[in-house]
Parts: sequence; structure tokens; C-alpha cells
Amino acid sequence: MSKVTVIGAGNVGATCANAIAHLNCVSDIVLIDIKEGLSEGKAIDMMQTAKLYGFDTRIKGVTNDYAATADSDVVIITSGIPRKPGMTREELIGVNAGIVNSVVKNALQYSPNAVFMIIANPMDTMTYLTYKTSGLPKNKVIGMGGQLDSSRFTYYLSQALGAAPSDVEGIVIGGHGDTTMIPLISKATYKSQPVTKLLAKEAADKVVADTMVGGATITGLLGTSAWYGPGAAAATMVKSIILDQKKIFPCCVALEGEFGKSDICIGVPAVLGKNGVEKVVEIELTADEKAAFDKSAEAVSKTNKVLKDMNLVK
Ligand code: LAC
Repeated sequence: MSKVTVIGAGNVGATCANAIAHLNCVSDIVLIDIKEGLSEGKAIDMMQTAKLYGFDTRIKGVTNDYAATADSDVVIITSGIPRKPGMTREELIGVNAGIVNSVVKNALQYSPNAVFMIIANPMDTMTYLTYKTSGLPKNKVIGMGGQLDSSRFTYYLSQALGAAPSDVEGIVIGGHGDTTMIPLISKATYKSQPVTKLLAKEAADKVVADTMVGGATITGLLGTSAWYGPGAAAATMVKSIILDQKKIFPCCVALEGEFGKSDICIGVPAVLGKNGVEKVVEIELTADEKAAFDKSAEAVSKTNKVLKDMNLVK
């Protein structure tokens, strides 16, 4: 048996559960929310698509009943308030820190061996908070951001190239913030051809700029945060963990010297398998990328400092 708990049955949480079910890689999903009936209703709705999509994952919705989440392999934290147009992810810190702390504590009681995946924003700081306060080892705490940002990056690249998205490779490292993420344009390829050889500098710069505000653009249109991208990105990571596939994902992990950083959770390429983070992959960065990574880490640490100022983290 394999089990995934998704905390929060809002747009992101419900879409996560749905996307994981579609991958048909886990036997059970528990969707939990504080709002009576919300997760139950959405879970039943999703289960009534099982025959249509051909998945056999069982999805169960519960209200605040953490006992039902017991023995999960992966716990995904989507709870917290989403950002509104004009807001940065960082502005959510005060409210979301309290929510994340409390749901992690509840879930840990029943699933002490789970891998915790954080989606709540500001994601890098919520991942750091979870790592610092839960007592979990660093391999068991992962933030979902880089995989989503990378998917947005390959989407914008495919648009600029007139290419099929699945033929484009590209990754985003650094923080999951509008000004902290680093789309690695120098390493992006279109079927082995470097995209920098195929796109004019202005077009490449625009892809990078569009990627960085990829989430904000959607929030501006919808009035709230995106959910299809976040749900699908989380699901691909969950699959690699549950099936021990050891695929590489750009994601937020605690660094202890890798990339020259420590006491921080930030986006880097990492191998995900049954133990969570199996390995950080120290890809080579150009001097410019390294400088951008240093700047990004500085900004993420500054946001983390708010947690220290609030006495939430020592
Ligand atoms: C986004 C949110 C989930 O980037 O951070 O859409």
C-alpha cells in the first residue's frame, strides 16, 4: 500500500489529489481540509471519474480527521492563503507560517516517517520553517516550486521557438519568488540544440522575464493563485518518491554546503526517491548564474529572518 495525504482541499490541494490519481501510482490519497464537506465532496467527485480516466487510486475526503491520514508516505501541505493580484508570495508569511506549523504538527503525529512536501507560500520560507521546527531530517522536507517554474519556463520556451513543449528541456533554480527564481537559459535545449543558438537575445530575455512572473501573470488574470501547474508539478514529484524512480527535479531542499550555501532551503536540482531527497545534484553554474544564485539565496534568507524575528525559528 502507498498513501499520500494532501492537506488543504482548495484549488491547489484538490488539483494535486486529482493529478496524482491520474498518474495511477499510489493506492490511497487522503484529502483533508478544515471546511466541513469540502474535501469529502471533491473526493467523491474525483472518484466518479476513476472509471473514465482509468485510475484505481482511492481518494478519500475528511474534515480535520488526522487519524485518517495515518501512515502516509508523502504529506503535501497546500493549506494557507493564496496570493491575490499585486501581492508577492513573501507577503503571506505571517498568516501562513502559523497554519503550516499547525498542520505539519498534526500530520507528523500520524505519519512520522512521511516525506513532507510544501507548496504553501512563501514556499522556500515555509519549507525552511518546516525543516527547522518539525525535527524531520533534511531529506524528508521538500518544497515544490522549481518543478513548476521549470514547466512554465519550458512552456514559454516552446512558445518562442514554435516547438512542442515536450521537446524542450529547461530548469529553474533559486527561490520560488518573482525576483528570486533563476531560469537557466544557458542550459536550456530544444532536442539537444542550445536554445541560446536558436533564439535572439531579446526573445530569450523575454522568456526568462515571463517565466519569473509566470505565477503572478496567472494571479493577475484569475484573482487568485494558479492550480493546474502546481498540482501537476507536485504529482510528478510524488510519483518519483512513491515509485522510487530517482528522477531529478528542481526543488527546494535544505543545503549544507552544496552550492556554497547552508542554513537555507532553496531550489536546486535534486534526485527524488523513496527517502525523499536522495541527493542534491551540484550542476555547474556560469559566473552570472552563480552570482544570481548568491543574490537569490540572500533574498530567501532575508525572508527566513522574518521567522526568526517572529520567534518561530531559532
Ligand atoms: C504559483 C504558486 C503556487 O507559482 O506559488 O503558482
